[in-house]
Parts: sequence; C-alpha cells; structure tokens
Amino acid sequence: MPAYDNRYPSIFDLESRACRRIPRFALDYLCGGIGNEVGLRQNRLALDAVKLVPRYLRDISTCDISTSLFGEHYAMPIGIAPVGLAGMIWPGAELMLARAAQQAQIPFVLSMVGTTALETIAEQTEGQAWFQLYPTADWGITEDLIGRVSTCGYRVLVVTVDVPIGAKRERELRSGLTLPLKLTPRTVFDSLLCPHWLMALLRNGLPRFDSLSRYAPPDMTTLGAMATYVSELVVKGVTQEHLHRIRELWDGKLVIKGVLRAEDAISACDLGADGIVVSNHGGRQMDAAPASIEALAAIVEAVGERCAVMLDSGVRCGTDVLRAIATGAVFVFSGRSFYYGAGALGERGGRQAIEIFRDEITRGLAQLGCTEMSKLDKGSL
Ligand code: FNR
Repeated sequence: MPAYDNRYPSIFDLESRACRRIPRFALDYLCGGIGNEVGLRQNRLALDAVKLVPRYLRDISTCDISTSLFGEHYAMPIGIAPVGLAGMIWPGAELMLARAAQQAQIPFVLSMVGTTALETIAEQTEGQAWFQLYPTADWGITEDLIGRVSTCGYRVLVVTVDVPIGAKRERELRSGLTLPLKLTPRTVFDSLLCPHWLMALLRNGLPRFDSLSRYAPPDMTTLGAMATYVSELVVKGVTQEHLHRIRELWDGKLVIKGVLRAEDAISACDLGADGIVVSNHGGRQMDAAPASIEALAAIVEAVGERCAVMLDSGVRCGTDVLRAIATGAVFVFSGRSFYYGAGALGERGGRQAIEIFRDEITRGLAQLGCTEMSKLDKGSL
C-alpha cells in the first residue's frame, strides 16, 4: 500500500492545492518561467514525448529502486533541487523538506540564497544535504562559504553556472516582485487571502538570507535590501577560472549545474567535476533553451563515462525519473514538485511528494521488467 494520502495522489494534485494556499506573489515566483514561458512548457512536452516500452514475462517480485551515487546509498534516484528564497514560498519549507529528505534517504540541496543557514541544515540532516553555490564577485565570500560548507560536513558542492545575468520573469514583474523587494498594499492583500501561509510565517518569522546575512553591511536588515545585495553579490558569468579555483578549494564531490551543451560538459569534466546537472533551471533563465531531456543524450554520449550525469527541469512524476534514467541520466532532481508539497500540506507535504515518487518509480520499473534501477537503460526506450 502506498504510504501517502490518497486525496493527493500526484504532484499535480499537490500543485493545485499549493496554488490555493500560497500568496499570489510567492506563487508567481515559484511557478513562473522566463519570457513567454515556452521553455517551461517545453520541459513538460519533451518529457511527455519520451516513450518507455513495457517489458513483461519476467519475475519482478523483488524490485529495488535504490541507487548509489558518489559512494552514498540513496533510496531512489531523485533529490530535491536548490530553490532560493524558499521561506517566502512557504515559511519553514527548507527545514521541512531537508528533514523529509533525510528520513527518506534522498539528497536535499540547500541553495546559497535559501532562507535557512547552511549550519542549521547540516545539523538537521547529519551532513547528508548538498550545498549549492553561486560564485561571488567578492571572491573572499566564496572562499569563506566553501570553508563553512566543508566544516559543517557537506560532502557534495553544487556550483550553478546558468545564471550569468538576472532573469526577467514577467509574472514576477506583474506581481510586484521587483528589487528592492518591498511590502505593497497588493502583497499584503495577497497574504491576507492565505491564512495557512500567514500562520506558517508567524511560526517561522520573516524569511532572511540566513547563510549570507553575515557578509552584508550591518545596516542592511530588511529582506528587500538584502535581496538587492545578494543579486549584486553573484558573479556575472561563471568562468572556467572560477571553477578551477573552486576545484582547488573543495575536496569533496563537485557538481556543475545548468549545463545544456556537450562542450560545456566536457569543460566541466576537464576542470575536475564529479558530476553535472543537465538543466534549464526549470525554464527560468532562457526561454529558447532546449528542454533538459532533449539535451541529455548528447551530453551522456560526451561525458557519461567520465562523470555522473544528472537531470532536472519539469520532472513531475516517477515516469519522468525513469524517462531520464533510460535516456542515460544516473540521477534526477526536481525543485517545484517538493515545494508544491510543502505549500499544499506543510510538513507532511514533503513526505507526500517523496512517497508519490517512490510509488510511481517502483510501479514504472516493474512495468519495464527491471528488478534494479541500474538495469534500466535505453533498451526501454
Ligand atoms: C530555482 N532553481 C535554483 N537553482 C539554483 O541552482 N539555485 C537557486 O537558488 C535556485 N532557485 C530557484 C527558485 C525557484 C522558485 C525555482 C522554481 C527554481 C532551479 C532549481 O534548482 C531546478 O533547476 C528547477 O527547479 C528544476 O525544475 P522543476 O523541477 O522546478 O521544474
């Protein structure tokens, strides 16, 4: 029997409930894509277009969906992607999701621009979480962050390279979510319409960039001013030189996130990356970018033997995870799926989203006649 609440059997059910409980401005931030949102839609269309051909006449009485990655054992090949400003989407979401991931033995990736301190997440997850970094223009901050991440026991550092410039997301602009962030009559009104979100805000306090606040000037206390500071902190275009310097500073596993071209994947490997995430940032950076599932096969072909090739963007069900793995990925992430869970059902929503994936991956793998995750390959396409 699935361990989840049958009233919300899919991520899309969690999404529609979350949409009724999260204030408009925060929802536009979570759901929105860049430009005309062609890339956002393309992520789903391209995943839906991948067919997996069932294989029967096999014994699947033991079906093991666990996976090894970077020497760690994970209960299934999906993790929670880094999401910035998470405390605005659902106050307390990061801690809820990090704990749920820890209990379920899947990775939770904390964003550098998240709203819970990296020390707190490390403590709550016994060092199992991963940390995502945007290299900073002030290199001393990058060095200090990597030192803190290492001291806290994180074993995987994810460096995101697909934000050379801030994105123009029209939904956010229409909602008044512009820098510097500030309370407007409209955001207050939106919030008042969402009493569960307001209660979560009262319990958790206003969101702050807790991993970064120590670097800001002391008089910079509001979220609005900090958001501007953080946007200026991030380097404009991560270069190979930045990655080289990070590789020298970081002894653990290094993952480069936001790769869509084989040549970038090859450069990342040459610079010592242990893994890459093929991603279009959930359709949030470049509207004309290919869906990551469309870019995946060429990248696996180029570097699949040299590093762990992972994928995110648009993944919403266990079948999507299997689609990506059959196409050559070794691991898959989703951002919105899990934050929809937190928005829909609070603490138990993260667990619900994880159980939905667990159930769907198990059923899908059995349909493909596979008893182990490692046996799933392009023979199922
Ligand atoms: C993101 N993403 C992201 N990525 C990253 O490396 N650092 C970050 O701070 C953020 N912030 C962020 C905020 C929000 C609201 C979203 C939706 C996404 C991208 C994220 O890690 C991942 O690539 C996408 O979310 C994957 O697409 P899906 O699963 O959300 O469709």
